[in-house]
Amino acid sequence: MKKIIAKTSTRNYPIFLGNNLFRSAPKLLKSLKDARQVLLVSNHKIDSIYHSRLLDMLNDTGLKFSIFLVHDGETFKNNTVCSEIYDQMLASNFHRTDIMIAFGGGVIGDLAGFSASTFHRGVKLVQYPTTIVSQVDSSIGGKVAVNYKQIKNIIGTFYQPHLVIADFDLLSTLETKEIINGLGEIVKYGLLFDKGILKLLDRIIESPSQLNSAIKSQYFDQIIYKCALIKTKVVARDENDISYRNLLNFGHTIGHALEKASGLTSVTHGQAVGLGMLAALDISIELGYLSTDFKMQILGLYKKIGLPTKIEGIDMDKIIKAMGYDKKFVSGKNKFVLLRNLNQPFFYCDLKQDIIINSIKNNMG
Ligand code: NAD
Ligand code: GLY
Repeated sequence: MKKIIAKTSTRNYPIFLGNNLFRSAPKLLKSLKDARQVLLVSNHKIDSIYHSRLLDMLNDTGLKFSIFLVHDGETFKNNTVCSEIYDQMLASNFHRTDIMIAFGGGVIGDLAGFSASTFHRGVKLVQYPTTIVSQVDSSIGGKVAVNYKQIKNIIGTFYQPHLVIADFDLLSTLETKEIINGLGEIVKYGLLFDKGILKLLDRIIESPSQLNSAIKSQYFDQIIYKCALIKTKVVARDENDISYRNLLNFGHTIGHALEKASGLTSVTHGQAVGLGMLAALDISIELGYLSTDFKMQILGLYKKIGLPTKIEGIDMDKIIKAMGYDKKFVSGKNKFVLLRNLNQPFFYCDLKQDIIINSIKNNMG
């Protein structure tokens, strides 16, 4: 089991990463002092896979516990479900020292985390991430939120967890599309901060058809560890996302537009960010920073790991509209994350719109 200490202004907390952590979890949970009870929040799908192991783990804490299950999906990350979690905490007389465990992907982490951050102005929060996205990104750094009136993450706070437990074994039950989703985020860390991550991915993944076995490799565990460490360092440098942490938005400006234009269905977040990063590489090439050979190499990696290399089935007009570029009076203000070279990200403000639009067109299928 490996340990990273996250250092933030509100608290320093340990992130444990390893295999078979159900065995260690009760002791880790008991190290959070003065708790009388635990509320574990998860969803029906995850619970159906891990129910008996969760019961064993919770029983082993020796604490009173209850489980709250949410329906699966982004649409349930909302204030109504958050209120239902409050109701459960009220009914069980939940105190600030009691423990909320968010056992799931980013949806559960954000939703349960937001409930935990606001009930009694904050109860003890354990992020127990079960997806690649949540292990490398959302469980670390304290961003918690719910969607409101279909606007993503519009109601939220920064609330650092008290403990993170990232068990690599949980990833073995992920569907392939969720693995690819997570690989989009991992490539982002590789391009921005650590080329060693790209090398490791290239080494362990031969083709998209063997992703499920590739992620069981110890090298994949190393990749998750490297990404979690990077996220921890980025958060330590700019906890409130004022400047440096914005680098994590690499590929997101165009990626979000693709998600929106696709109606949030045909393209997953990780795929959209993957395509957004390709567009950002094209902009970096256009501005003379990167070579076309560099992009070809990245495209080769995308093909190996199953990330889409072309924007397919999304109308260009819709993308332009989603970016707000169809309006007459656009302020022209935008802030892009580009690459000066591999692992040399920088911010570029007020990029000309035709360069942005061309970068999207370049990547249309
Ligand atoms: P998710 O939470 O929806 O999980 C993806 C799917 O995998 C779901 O169907 C889920 O039920 C299933 N699943 C989860 N764990 C599983 C397991 N071990 N085995 C089998 N199936 C499993 O998606 P995600 O990609 O983890 O997270 C996306 C969410 O995270 C979005 O809401 C996004 O806004 C948020 N997010 C937050 C941050 C942050 O910093 N707070 C960062 C990135 C993303
Ligand atoms: N997921 C981006 C961030 O935490 O800032």
